[in-house]
Amino acid sequence: MEWIFTLKDIPKIAEDFWRKAGDAKVFAFHGSLGAGKTTFIAALCKAKGVKDTASSPTFALINDYVYYDPSGNEQHIFHLDLYRIREEEEAVQAGIEDCLYSGAICMVEWAEKIPDLLPEDTVHITLVPVEGKRRLVMDRG
Ligand SMILES: Nc1ncnc2c1ncn2[C@@H]1O[C@H](COP(=O)(O)OP(=O)(O)OP(=O)(O)O)[C@@H](O)[C@H]1O
Ligand SMILES: [Mg+2]
Repeated sequence: MEWIFTLKDIPKIAEDFWRKAGDAKVFAFHGSLGAGKTTFIAALCKAKGVKDTASSPTFALINDYVYYDPSGNEQHIFHLDLYRIREEEEAVQAGIEDCLYSGAICMVEWAEKIPDLLPEDTVHITLVPVEGKRRLVMDRG
């Protein structure tokens, strides 16, 4: 799957992303500094019903967001930003495997830093800037 979109298109694209993602849980986001990873992840969380992604500290390794599914059950989305880690062991120490294998949705920025920790069925997402927009490719393997 592939989408090209502006900032203002993002809410609509996020809805479509979830339709195409099926029951995938772990998403690894690839893309250079400023490619739009955090922006898109925030929109994906919002589309699920998360209320307050904006208030989360950007320096946290693990952000834990809550939303309520259509049956009213509390669900979690983990947003992992691994930009600052130097080696996989730091991610392990921080408890990242508990998130990745929890069965909850996980959005991982800079996932290339933990190649050996990602579940086999991780969906890879690549974001590339194109003429003031972004191209997003979803690779479900
Ligand atoms: N679809 C889009 N179209 C145009 N601009 C966008 C789009 N998505 C994000 N941007 C802009 O790109 C900039 C960087 O976005 P963002 O912080 O989400 O990138 P990032 O990939 O998370 O960066 P980092 O690698 O620093 O974590 C922001 O100014 C944002 O408004
Ligand atoms: Mg970011």
